Amino acid sequence: MKRTLFALFLITTLLVGLACERRGGGTTASDTGPILVGYYGDLSGRTSSFGQSTKNGVEMAADELNKAGGIDGRTIQIITEDDQGEPNKAATVVTKLINQDKVHAILGEVASSNSLAAAPKAQEAKVPMISPSSTNPAVTQVGDYIFRVCFIDPFQGEVMAKFSANNLKAKRAAILYDFNSDYSRGLFQFFKRSFTGMGGQIVTEQSYTQGDRDFSGQLTAIRSASPDVIYVPGYYGEVGVISNQAKQLGIKAPLLGGDGWDAPQLWELGGASLNGNYISNHYSVDDPSPAIQKFVADYKARFNILPDALAALGYDSMKVLADAIKRAGTTESAKLRDAIAQTRDFPGVTGKITIDGDRNAVKPAVVLKLQDLKFVYETTISPEGSAPPATSSAAPASGATTAATAGTAAPPAKAASPTN
Ligand code: PHE
Repeated sequence: MKRTLFALFLITTLLVGLACERRGGGTTASDTGPILVGYYGDLSGRTSSFGQSTKNGVEMAADELNKAGGIDGRTIQIITEDDQGEPNKAATVVTKLINQDKVHAILGEVASSNSLAAAPKAQEAKVPMISPSSTNPAVTQVGDYIFRVCFIDPFQGEVMAKFSANNLKAKRAAILYDFNSDYSRGLFQFFKRSFTGMGGQIVTEQSYTQGDRDFSGQLTAIRSASPDVIYVPGYYGEVGVISNQAKQLGIKAPLLGGDGWDAPQLWELGGASLNGNYISNHYSVDDPSPAIQKFVADYKARFNILPDALAALGYDSMKVLADAIKRAGTTESAKLRDAIAQTRDFPGVTGKITIDGDRNAVKPAVVLKLQDLKFVYETTISPEGSAPPATSSAAPASGATTAATAGTAAPPAKAASPTN
């Protein structure tokens, strides 16, 4: 009797333990059947171009994978949520994807402020999240379930500082940044640190907030400071207008920006006033590499538009996730997290993707010139010693990276990229 009771006690403890572990694993999503991937992005707000392009890339990748038989016979199912580009809504839809849809993993967001608001929900529930394109360093610092497949802004800011000083011979820079955006505030600081570190001077710092339509006050102050270049690390919706107004005020200095300018709508807003400006970005459609050209052709055939960096990064994020699920042999959350963390030299459209100890990807950036409603490839800038770092000490988490102009992998600058 005693023995039987003891055995019963043991079995009960075991079962309860198993149940707890399942819950402790954070998700009750099934480990068999379709692989549920939550995608969240801005599909209707001020940065909806970002969310739409990324969604296209994610879906194209999932369709390719499913056509090839899925992952170990399981099909990938994308569940999409629109956060309207608002941080609080991003947190809400991610909570819904986790609790209601019981997704195995999450892809998103683009804008860093939205990723920063939603990432704590994924981390708390232990559901792996991969941001395709949020570049602010704080995003992956939220926790060990949060990853990204793009470079980070200490590097991106340095790329433009180097390009300004070395290629444009700029000594005096003005800054016009978006006060409410983590992305913009971060890039402003990183650019400033790098540019002044190289002996350059910041002649004025001006700001605005998303949705503003009149920048004449800031631009007049900038004109008076007579800068050689004007760094505007914002999103396309404001930047297009800023470019127009700068031209109207007779400002000749080029505007310089980051990946946040990348949207077809930029050209609608800024038109010819954008000629002669430069941005840093994740890839160029001009790149002659067969993998990129195949991606560009497939995407164009499907969506009838050229893929911008968001589309390419969305595509890469889904492929990296699929690769990790395959290597893990399961969608169980801790194992999937470990497999994503172990991603090495994954051949993405946007470059080789290796996840470093801080859960970021270390990759080169391209500089593109804005000319005749096109982004034209100018140069590639690589992180110094860009061999995949084995430990976090080699990772550019706090901007320790230095940029060096790489003479390699340069697509022909003459190749014109149609409007995208
Ligand atoms: N890097 C931007 C951010 O973190 C988002 C972005 C990426 C926008 C790529 C356009 C292209 O907010």
